[in-house]
Amino acid sequence: MQRGWMDKGVRNARRKATDSDKLGRNVRSEASEKQAAKARQTQRMIERLDVVEEPRKEWELRMEIAAAPRSGAVVATLRDAAVRRGDFSFGPASLQIDWADRVAITGANGAGKSTLLAALLGRLPLDEGYAALGPGVVVGEVDQARGLFYGSESLLEAFCAAVPDTEPAEVRTLLAKFGLRAAHVLRPATTLSPGERTRAALALLQGRGVNLLVLDEPTNHLDLTAIEQLESALDSYEGTLLLVTHDRRMLDAVRTTRRVEVAAGKVTEL
Ligand SMILES: Nc1ncnc2c1ncn2[C@@H]1O[C@H](COP(=O)(O)OP(=O)(O)O)[C@@H](O)[C@H]1O
Ligand SMILES: [Mg+2]
Repeated sequence: MQRGWMDKGVRNARRKATDSDKLGRNVRSEASEKQAAKARQTQRMIERLDVVEEPRKEWELRMEIAAAPRSGAVVATLRDAAVRRGDFSFGPASLQIDWADRVAITGANGAGKSTLLAALLGRLPLDEGYAALGPGVVVGEVDQARGLFYGSESLLEAFCAAVPDTEPAEVRTLLAKFGLRAAHVLRPATTLSPGERTRAALALLQGRGVNLLVLDEPTNHLDLTAIEQLESALDSYEGTLLLVTHDRRMLDAVRTTRRVEVAAGKVTEL
């Protein structure tokens, strides 16, 4: 905006260059000079802003260290799968998900995206066809994991209950990797911010050794901070990913390797 004003000022000064009023001309070009100095100063401030926002947070860096054991080469298979849900009919659909595939699943509301996920994960009895998960697949859902951190017990207690085979000291270390330190772990889970709850959920998925991460429209109930934290954690995640989203920005922000479109119960690979 300041640059715009400056250009205008210069143009006006030139247009009136034939003025006999030399004083006025000088005042006008001096004003443009001042405006230019202001614009330079603003530019420097904008550049500083970028510098401040750039460094990645500690927990993001640490996320890259932990990696769940991988599954077999074939993670999930649907073959000629068909499901009827009331008036809605899904399929027949065939789809194979391989290790480390990062699949974006898109489609209109009610198209059958969640039905596709449920069929793939073997959570929905099929009317026809076949569905199977591969060996060594550990499924995790961020939404489900987040749901465990809404109670009055402390974050540490809630977390330990969710991974009973893990020592509390180990749980603390895991949470710390996701930026949840002493001050967080003893707070009632219900007081966590959405961003903190998302980090706790990701820590839990990590703790459970999840290698098939399923996200069904995650931006629907997350605030912007939690979305951004999720996006950057997904960047370092190395397992297989199924991401249903209608959010353009999230599709752009998350690295995916395949794109599947669901329309009126029909599944197409794009
Ligand atoms: N449990 C259910 N019982 C009956 N119909 C259902 C059930 N779940 C979903 N449906 C119907 O199946 C269709 C597809 O739903 P869904 O797979 O959730 O779509 P999407 O996730 O793409 O929005 C919708 O028309 C919905 O009304
Ligand atoms: Mg859905």
